[in-house]
Amino acid sequence: MQVNTIHVKTGSPYDVQIGEGLLERCGAEVRKVAPKARVAAIVTDDIVAPLYADRVECSLIEAGFEVARHTIKNGEPSKCHETLIGIYSFLNKSGVTRSDLLIALGGGVVGDITGYAAATYLRGVAYVQLPTTLLAQVDSSVGGKTAVDIPEGKNLVGAFWQPKLVVCDVSALATLPKETFADGAAEVIKYGAIWDAELFKRLEQGALYSDTISVITRCIDIKREVVEKDEFDKGLRALLNFGHTLGHAIEAESGYTVTHGAAVAVGMVLIAQISQRMRLTDGINTKRLTACIARHGLKTETGYSMQELYPHCFSDKKCEGDSITLVLLHEIGMAFLYTAKNEDLKGILGIQ
Ligand SMILES: NC(=O)c1ccc[n+]([C@@H]2O[C@H](COP(=O)([O-])OP(=O)(O)OC[C@H]3O[C@@H](n4cnc5c(N)ncnc54)[C@H](O)[C@@H]3O)[C@@H](O)[C@H]2O)c1
Ligand SMILES: [Zn+2]
Repeated sequence: MQVNTIHVKTGSPYDVQIGEGLLERCGAEVRKVAPKARVAAIVTDDIVAPLYADRVECSLIEAGFEVARHTIKNGEPSKCHETLIGIYSFLNKSGVTRSDLLIALGGGVVGDITGYAAATYLRGVAYVQLPTTLLAQVDSSVGGKTAVDIPEGKNLVGAFWQPKLVVCDVSALATLPKETFADGAAEVIKYGAIWDAELFKRLEQGALYSDTISVITRCIDIKREVVEKDEFDKGLRALLNFGHTLGHAIEAESGYTVTHGAAVAVGMVLIAQISQRMRLTDGINTKRLTACIARHGLKTETGYSMQELYPHCFSDKKCEGDSITLVLLHEIGMAFLYTAKNEDLKGILGIQ
């Protein structure tokens, strides 16, 4: 059975494994990174639990762990302090100590909040990511960003806390709703657009569907390269925000009824159009990006005007003081950071 492994060399290094059927045999791998842990405390959500929690539990028990499980309600509204307090109580009740382990089993919501609980409970407990959405496998489970939302905005409270291990079981993607898979596809396309023209070409030919493991592995390897060079998000990591400034604006303007990936997909098209208008990229790149996004079941247009999206751009984390950093497209496979003065943003967005 093919298992790809990517070694991420951050301050605290770890492996990411990618393959099929890995959840039912994750116990032995988890044991290797936590030889002394007694308790493995699983946090999952109410959709993922009935699908995958039993097999993970069995495998952890076989590896000698005492297993506890906590199930949160699925969806973004759960990524909040109320849920976090529930997780802390669960950890306390389960007798988790500093030498034990948290296991995040689910999508990005479970991964982000479990990671943050791990970063903060007892001033830091080890954790393992078992991502079950495409987005979580290619993006949120790697890189050590953990977070919860507050009413004022998404991901505004968080910590950098690297996992001890990430296990991506590609078989788990089979149960994803089509729209949730497409959400992840937006991030996959992003990696090709900003970093790897060859990957992009393969995606244009349908490689995400025909060669899923190899595509996911390549995306994680790109994220590894970027994160290793900029663990604490002070420069290069901003490239991963391609399509995200306008994407976040669309999410916010829709009152979060448009999902992250769907919003980022449109954000990428809009920023490519802007790059083209600024004569920084050729029309063919915008065309290819738009067609590739459409081919993966994502919309390429929004009903919101730039006028409506503009105010949200300033609540983006990439906005500092009197300037904002945008990620513009040079060509397929190459994006770059462009810092604009706040007062120039209207002109860039094409607002009169
Ligand atoms: N930490 C980071 O670097 C980072 C990066 C990108 C996104 N994020 C965060 O990730 C979150 C979005 O992640 P997401 O898209 O995975 O959302 P999610 O965790 O809400 O999962 C989407 C839906 O799919 C369900 N699901 C999960 N796995 C399934 C499976 N295998 N089969 C069937 N259903 C399944 C979930 O229950 C949920 O209803 C956001 O909160 C975002 O802020 C974090
Ligand atoms: Zn994203």
